[in-house]
Amino acid sequence: MEQTFIALKPDAVQRGYIGEIIQRFERKGFKLAGLKLMHLSREKAETHYGEHKDKPFFGGLVEFITSGPIVAMAWEGNNVVAEARKMMGATNPKDSAPGTIRGDFAVDLGRNIIHGSDSVESAQRELSIFFEPGELVCNWDRSTEKWVYEKPEPAKQACSV
Ligand code: RTP
Ligand code: MG
Repeated sequence: MEQTFIALKPDAVQRGYIGEIIQRFERKGFKLAGLKLMHLSREKAETHYGEHKDKPFFGGLVEFITSGPIVAMAWEGNNVVAEARKMMGATNPKDSAPGTIRGDFAVDLGRNIIHGSDSVESAQRELSIFFEPGELVCNWDRSTEKWVYEKPEPAKQACSV
């Protein structure tokens, strides 16, 4: 069972979309494994977006992501990394289809509401930046599991972080 890291950026928190966005992941059938409101340090922001450190937008991106509280989350499910990216829509909201999170809630590239890991490897790396050991909750049995999956897997006993 795959895990991904999702963050609701400061614009999502400021605009009051936390509940609506979380609801989309719940309704889809993904399982929550971690959730916290936090104010990201500059150091963690620079580590998280390290792949973009030489890009011209890096400074503004770090400024924005540290400008107010964010909601950090771990979601679990079959193919959740790719599925979450589909639910989020294209990076630039002008290209995000209606019905996607960015397509429905955002207009500007620098205010695109949500982050989601782009691979299983990035998810592991990012989860360990945003969550301390013991903060994820992987081993809970969800009563609806057999209604989401034809062949449900038992809950993970060990969390990745
Ligand atoms: P994210 O990492 O935030 O989930 O977004 P993403 O994978 O869809 O896009 P990525 O290429 O990783 O870019 C990270 C964030 O940087 C901002 N950005 N600005 N001005 C620009 O050209 C530009 N390009 C990217 C966006 O806020 C994007 O989400
Ligand atoms: Mg990215």
